[in-house]
Amino acid sequence: MDIQVHGAEPTDEERQAVDSLLGAATSGWEGGARDIARDGRAGRGGRAARDQRDQLLPALHAVQDRVGWVSEGALNYICQRLTVPPADAWGVVTFYHLFATAPRPLTVAHVCDDLACRLRGAEALCERLTEELGPAGEPKSSGGGTWMRSPCLGLCEQAPAALVVHAGAVRQTATLGPVADAIAIARALEGDTTELFTAPAARLATLRQSVPQAGSAGLKLLSRVGTVDPGSLDAYRRSGGYRALARAIELGSAGVIAELIASKLLGRGGAAFPAGRKWDAVARATEKTRYVICNADESEPGTFKDRVLLEEDPFAIVEAMTIAGFTCGAEEGIVYLRGEYPHAEVRLRQALAAARDAGMLGDDVAGAGFRFDIEIRRGAGAYICGEETALFESIEGKRGEPRSKPPFPVEVGVFGKPTLVNNVETLANVPWILLEGGERFRATGTPESAGTKLFCLSGEVARPGLYEVPFGTTLGELIELAGGVAFGKELFAVLLGGAAGSFVGADRLPLPLTFEGTRAAGTTLGSGVVLVYGEGADIGDALLRIAEFFRHESCGQCVPCRVGTVRQLELLQRLRNRTPLGDRAQEMALFAELAQAMRDASICGLGQTASAAVASGLALFDPFR
Ligand SMILES: Cc1cc2nc3c(=O)[nH]c(=O)nc-3n(C[C@H](O)[C@H](O)[C@H](O)COP(=O)(O)O)c2cc1C
Ligand code: SF4
Ligand code: FES
Repeated sequence: MDIQVHGAEPTDEERQAVDSLLGAATSGWEGGARDIARDGRAGRGGRAARDQRDQLLPALHAVQDRVGWVSEGALNYICQRLTVPPADAWGVVTFYHLFATAPRPLTVAHVCDDLACRLRGAEALCERLTEELGPAGEPKSSGGGTWMRSPCLGLCEQAPAALVVHAGAVRQTATLGPVADAIAIARALEGDTTELFTAPAARLATLRQSVPQAGSAGLKLLSRVGTVDPGSLDAYRRSGGYRALARAIELGSAGVIAELIASKLLGRGGAAFPAGRKWDAVARATEKTRYVICNADESEPGTFKDRVLLEEDPFAIVEAMTIAGFTCGAEEGIVYLRGEYPHAEVRLRQALAAARDAGMLGDDVAGAGFRFDIEIRRGAGAYICGEETALFESIEGKRGEPRSKPPFPVEVGVFGKPTLVNNVETLANVPWILLEGGERFRATGTPESAGTKLFCLSGEVARPGLYEVPFGTTLGELIELAGGVAFGKELFAVLLGGAAGSFVGADRLPLPLTFEGTRAAGTTLGSGVVLVYGEGADIGDALLRIAEFFRHESCGQCVPCRVGTVRQLELLQRLRNRTPLGDRAQEMALFAELAQAMRDASICGLGQTASAAVASGLALFDPFR
């Protein structure tokens, strides 16, 4: 019996898109009780339709991938299949920026106009696109597609960056300069896209641009980049891959945790939490069902390290998650992957399939008698979903609204179960720790910041890209490694840590890049962003962009952040327009009060850090004077 849809009907294509994910609807409301094929394996088999709420985002993606947008009929059909009330599903689909709820051409060029790209011609590119193709968001007259402005796409080293998405198939345009870019984008919208990413020569060129150190001696996390084929499990094994898992099995769960604790590895996702303590807490949980999550949402403007790791060394992340599953007693792993990372998704899917075929994932991993498998969940353009509890909500098919903590994820995480959440870069360190031992690992870096760190250099730096250096390297040394300031300019400022980080002046070049060093200097390493501004930079413009970003990305759940991010933007606009409320001093006092309220009373890190970069920029440079 076919599912009856009340209200707007889905088209055949929309119905097929949903059915190909959920299985054909065969028996009314419980039709969705079939197993869901995920990455070629059975999901939580035999679940009733009402338990499949977590398939809401995958179903929305399936429809949008097929037809380019989510119509009322398609949403209706998804709601019927998953027994989600339409009003609830509407709240979800409109929460995520990548989902379109109005007709949109099949091909869309997302053109970044965020912090790093603004310093490299994004506005000129957008102007040129307006001339060539018409205003953003309007379908091209010849029917090809449309272009849209976008926040940071995580391609900052290729600035000004654009991502051309053809419903289902995705192409990436690495850009060269405003004029050439506009033409390339126009061609892509006509369907004439040279697949820059997959063409070997172009891939290598892009890689050298992304990772200027590729192939150098002494690298750890980036050691395979450009030297080992990321699509080959054999090549991975030949380069030492899966030796760490063998070592983990030898050591046993307690032994792995002891090495992690000895290594002093701190989380690289921004909060710098000791990884060993987290793994230990999940391993000790009383609940038997546990999850391992790799946080690959990476949406902090200026950050692209996790994208490069996943694209260029995907097996290392799969191996690290498998070690985590073994150590913590979890059988299911989930990679929550940023929706704008299509190439990372392709690489990761290939790696998962190869690992499964080789028995390195599945019911008896490596013949060692434990079960572990990994699925990918795609985000859909919401920065807040990088916050770990918002990420759980998103996986569960809801709006990405952070939960109050405690309880902490190690006790009550995704689906209410103990969950280990680690950032991609944190996980990438794990095989190294097991291979060289925790003690030796921590010999690199400083006593409080062990190991090496990935930094994302972008903006007005001569060689933007991803760099790996030992903790303790100074800011000046790092910028020097990237060729110094571009265009023969003097250094003016650096945004450290991203939009949630803070600005520092040129006097901070001797700053050692460590957790403790940046903390003492009143700044943060955050997600490893080093965005360079040369003399003459318009810091006021950057502050306005950052304030817009937070206003846009606040989930709206708590008042200090929901209202505070709007007021912060309005205040900056008044300062820029020379129309202060009262005088400037009063505005600055108001800003201080606002910042404090957001910092002290917001539920999560977004609101707590939303004023940090703006406060530092105002204090250091007074750009609106
Ligand atoms: C607003 C916000 C966004 C975040 N985005 C990310 C992210 O994109 N990737 C990430 O790994 N951690 C992100 N985090 C931190 C996570 O909540 C969490 O601390 C981290 O994933 C834990 O992994 P780690 O211990 O390996 O760092 C974010 C936190 C906040 C408050
Ligand atoms: S601080 Fe902002 S993002 Fe975080 S829960 Fe509150 S409203 Fe949402
Ligand atoms: S891709 Fe443009 S700022 Fe990151």
